[in-house]
Amino acid sequence: MITVIGSLKGGSGKSTTSFNLAVWLLTQDFTTAIFDLDPQQTLADTAECRAEDDQHPVLEVDSPRTRIKDKLIEADKAHAEVLVDIGNSNMSAAKTAYLIADRIIIPVLPSQSDVWSLQRFLKTLESLDTKPGIEIVVFVNRADTHHAVMETRETLAVLKQLPNITVITRVLSQRLGFRRSFSEGLGIFELEPRSKAAAEFLLFAHKLYPLRRGGKKPPQKKKTVIRLAQKPAVRKTPLKRSKKTASKKTRTK
Ligand SMILES: Nc1ncnc2c1ncn2[C@@H]1O[C@H](COP(=O)(O)OP(=O)(O)OP(=O)(O)O)[C@@H](O)[C@H]1O
Ligand SMILES: [Mg+2]
Repeated sequence: MITVIGSLKGGSGKSTTSFNLAVWLLTQDFTTAIFDLDPQQTLADTAECRAEDDQHPVLEVDSPRTRIKDKLIEADKAHAEVLVDIGNSNMSAAKTAYLIADRIIIPVLPSQSDVWSLQRFLKTLESLDTKPGIEIVVFVNRADTHHAVMETRETLAVLKQLPNITVITRVLSQRLGFRRSFSEGLGIFELEPRSKAAAEFLLFAHKLYPLRRGGKKPPQKKKTVIRLAQKPAVRKTPLKRSKKTASKKTRTK
């Protein structure tokens, strides 16, 4: 199954979602091919950080410039899952991915302009000759964690009214862990396994890849209670690592 993470909006969380899903799928015994079609190569860079640290499972990211359609089809035949991160600075590659996708997952930030952008994107997809039966899945990323902030609930309410899409009501909140997990090359559930961010992500991932398709059981809710005192310390910043990794990826905190 070819799943493309896409949106018209920059910075909506496509690469963060792709990366975490890719690592998670590999830990769940799904054979997975991972593609980064964004010239920014964010996903490929993160995979490189992971490789530098010898983290397993190894994330092999392919970034083809030519024969993209053929390569996606070949990967689909050879793997249980294909995951594609796109970037809007290469619209032609993104379009190729949308046309071959079985499913497009769209992260939407909880704001009016992001909902408008989503609607425009859905119209664009409608105008394309996408696969029959393609599933369009939308979720809210970077949801506000403060209950008094209404935008996430309002955004979800609007999303539910949009036709021909599946809305995942499990949001991913705005959490520092997601940013850190990126620079460390670790899935959020590896970096902070007991965190709220990891719990949110695992529930989200299990919604997208249910048990019947081969994944392991989702975590029980009570196991994901956070005990702040037991939270693992955040790993060293790259600056401290620079002696050993002078020629390696420069990472932010
Ligand atoms: N749930 C989240 N909580 C906190 N930060 C997040 C979250 N999701 C994404 N981010 C951060 O937002 C920024 C943009 O995310 P990301 O690079 O995944 O977006 P993108 O859609 O791939 O962007 P682009 O369009 O440039 O490819 C990154 O700094 C990332 O760490
Ligand atoms: Mg990206």
